[in-house]
Amino acid sequence: MLAIGSDHGGYDLKQEIKAHLKERGIEFEDLGVLENTSCDYPDFGAKVAKAVLAGDAELGILICGTGIGISIAANRFKGIRCANCTSEYMAKMAKEHNNANILALGGRILTGEEACRITDVFLDTPFSDGERHIRRIEKLDSLN
Ligand code: RB5
Repeated sequence: MLAIGSDHGGYDLKQEIKAHLKERGIEFEDLGVLENTSCDYPDFGAKVAKAVLAGDAELGILICGTGIGISIAANRFKGIRCANCTSEYMAKMAKEHNNANILALGGRILTGEEACRITDVFLDTPFSDGERHIRRIEKLDSLN
């Protein structure tokens, strides 16, 4: 199960990604914003981050205008590795090297087609499990 969330800047792109996930038969829960009205991205970054940390969702997808604010919000939570990706290569590395557990996207940066391709790479790429990557990820969680 995936948790997906956005502010108003990511709302339209979120609808496109949800349709794409449905087509792929991937289960998700939309944690809001549930209508295209002005709202604050930290609220939805926090909701998706908490769902991932609680184990209610395996992975998360967050979308705001640029992907910046909402990824900053999610990354305030220890254990969250939220990667704001603008290319398929970034999505691949975010999983292989960083074992990112949330993908952030920019609704005013990417076309629907680009965002769906990036999402597919993110979902379909496994963590490399390399010893050096495990060590670096553990260091992330020891920073304060
Ligand atoms: C909202 O207008 C916009 O600031 C927000 O979606 C996001 O881009 C912030 O980083």
